[in-house]
Amino acid sequence: MKPIIFLLSDQKELAEAITKECGYERGDLTIHLFPDEEICVRINSSVKNRRVILLLSLDKPNDKLSSLLFVAATLRELGAQEIGLIAPYLAYMRQDKQFNPGEGISAKYFASFLSNTVDSLVTIDPHLHRFHALNEIYTIPATVLHASEAIANWIKQHVENPLLIGPDQESQQWVTDIAQRIGAPLTVLEKQRTGDHSVSVSIPHIAQYKNHTPILIDDIISTARTMIETVKQVNTILKQPPICIGVHALFVGDAYEALLKAGVDKVVTCNTIRHPSNAIDINGIIAQWLISSAP
Ligand code: R5P
Repeated sequence: MKPIIFLLSDQKELAEAITKECGYERGDLTIHLFPDEEICVRINSSVKNRRVILLLSLDKPNDKLSSLLFVAATLRELGAQEIGLIAPYLAYMRQDKQFNPGEGISAKYFASFLSNTVDSLVTIDPHLHRFHALNEIYTIPATVLHASEAIANWIKQHVENPLLIGPDQESQQWVTDIAQRIGAPLTVLEKQRTGDHSVSVSIPHIAQYKNHTPILIDDIISTARTMIETVKQVNTILKQPPICIGVHALFVGDAYEALLKAGVDKVVTCNTIRHPSNAIDINGIIAQWLISSAP
C-alpha cells in the first residue's frame, strides 16, 4: 500500500505534487488548541500498519515542534508502521559549534529531537558547514536533496551572461555547483558577522566582468544583511544591479523590503518556505526522489 501524507505546514503545492505524481493518499488530521494553549491531535484517516509521511517545513521552528511531537506520537499510538518527515527547510543547522562560552550546539540537540520523533528525514540543501553530512548528527536515515539544478535552469532561462557571486565561504559549495552546470564565472567573498544584524563582506574583484549580470547566491536569506552588504559592494563596481537568489526564504521582519530597496534587479527564491519571492520550484525534486526511492 502507498504511504499516506499529512500536511503540517503551508506546503499545499508540495502535498499536491506528491499526491499527483506519486499517487500517495492525502491524510486528514486536526490540531485543536485548548484555551490554555495545550494541543490535542486527532488523526481522521486510518494509519494502522501504514507508512506515513509528514510534510513540515521547519522555518519558525519552535512552535512547530510541539505539533510534530504530538502528531508523531499519536500516529504511533494508532499503529502507523513508519513515519517519515519531509522538511524542505531544516532549521537549527547554523548553530553548529559552541560560538560563545556557556552556549551549546543546538544543531545536535535538534537532530537528536527529530531522530527520536520520526524514522527518516528528507530535506533540501541544509546548511552543512562544520558538519559535512547529516548523519554526523542524525541517527535516522537523512537524505539531502539539492536545488542547484533547478537554480541553474532558472538562470539559464532568465539571465544572459551571468556572473555568480557567493557572499561567504559556506556558499562556495552551491555557487561552484551551479556555475559548473551553466558554465559561468564565479567569485566567492569573505564575510564577517559581528552580530545578528551586522555583517561585512570583502570587496569583490569583478571589474573585468563589466558586461555580465551579477547573481548573488546564498542558501539562507534571514535578516538579508549578508545579501544587502554584498549588493552594496557589487554596485560600487558593476553597472548592472544584481539578482539575488536564495534557497530558503526566511526573511525575518522587514528583511525582504530592505533587500528590495538595496539596489537589486530582483530577488528570487526556491519554494522550500512559502514567500512572495518564490520562483524556483523544488516540489518536483522531492516528488521525483520519492518515486525513485520507493521500495
Ligand atoms: C550563513 O552562513 C548562511 O549561509 C547565510 O549566509 C546566512 O544565514 C544569511 O543570514 P542573513 O540573511 O541574516 O545575513
